[in-house]
Amino acid sequence: MSEEGFEWDDRYILVTENLTKAFGGLVAVNNVNIKVEKNKMTMLMGPNGAGKTTFVNVCTGVLKPTGGKVYFDGKDITGWEPHKIYKAGFVRTFQVPEPFLGLTVLDNVLVALGNAGENPIKAPIKKLWIDEERRNIEKAFEILEAVGLSDYWDRVASALGAGQLKMLEVARALATGAKLIALDEPIGGTDPAYADEILSYVKGLLKKWDVSFLLIEHRIDIALPYADYVYVMDRGMVIAEGDPDEVANNPKVIEIYIG
Ligand SMILES: Nc1ncnc2c1ncn2[C@@H]1O[C@H](COP(=O)(O)OP(=O)(O)OP(=O)(O)O)[C@@H](O)[C@H]1O
Ligand SMILES: [Mg+2]
Repeated sequence: MSEEGFEWDDRYILVTENLTKAFGGLVAVNNVNIKVEKNKMTMLMGPNGAGKTTFVNVCTGVLKPTGGKVYFDGKDITGWEPHKIYKAGFVRTFQVPEPFLGLTVLDNVLVALGNAGENPIKAPIKKLWIDEERRNIEKAFEILEAVGLSDYWDRVASALGAGQLKMLEVARALATGAKLIALDEPIGGTDPAYADEILSYVKGLLKKWDVSFLLIEHRIDIALPYADYVYVMDRGMVIAEGDPDEVANNPKVIEIYIG
């Protein structure tokens, strides 16, 4: 498919071309070329300060790029506003999760699914929204099941642990129909057993929910086996890429991680 003068390869959901972000003299993201395949888990790893979060922020419109291009689902989304990118189906989670902490887990997902009862035209006609509300509740439970949170449906979100909050963010993203979810350190601050559980759930979503993940992580010991493809960043640049085995055995990567 060709649109706006570029060739789009349908195997991918996200492609960046020489993406660059400078903060004054510091080039945090330096000519980064990354491709995220559909229904796959692509991992972006690298030490502290490598530029991983900045890369995601530039892709999702939180920051404007200094140079380069971002293509998402066949469209050039370079420089788009964050809400427009979100609506297009590219959702990011934050290192510090910020869902609606005062609401229950279920309500968080219901809000993301949208509620016809709040539609001013449909609201007075109860029959119109009661069926939709029932369908939404079923869908919400299906999503909560898929992310491992169904047992917590009536808890207030603020009572969840860090990893569970991340999964609630994933649930909300699925509810909005996200096509690509960028997870910034979903297992940060969780113990290894729960980290494995989180990553297993995430992996299980790929095909069933027709979604793709860009996983940002520096705890490679735990996360690497779950990745389908890996990019390694250091000081703003991609210094290695390949499947997990290839990357784990790459001398440049070993040097960064073991020194
Ligand atoms: N808003 C900003 N203004 C100036 N410099 C910034 C800004 N955001 C990030 N940086 C710098 O850009 C570089 C990359 O930071 P970034 O947060 O993207 O790294 P990271 O790979 O996500 O690291 P971590 O693993 O610690 O989360 C760092 O040197 C950081 O200090
Ligand atoms: Mg970061």
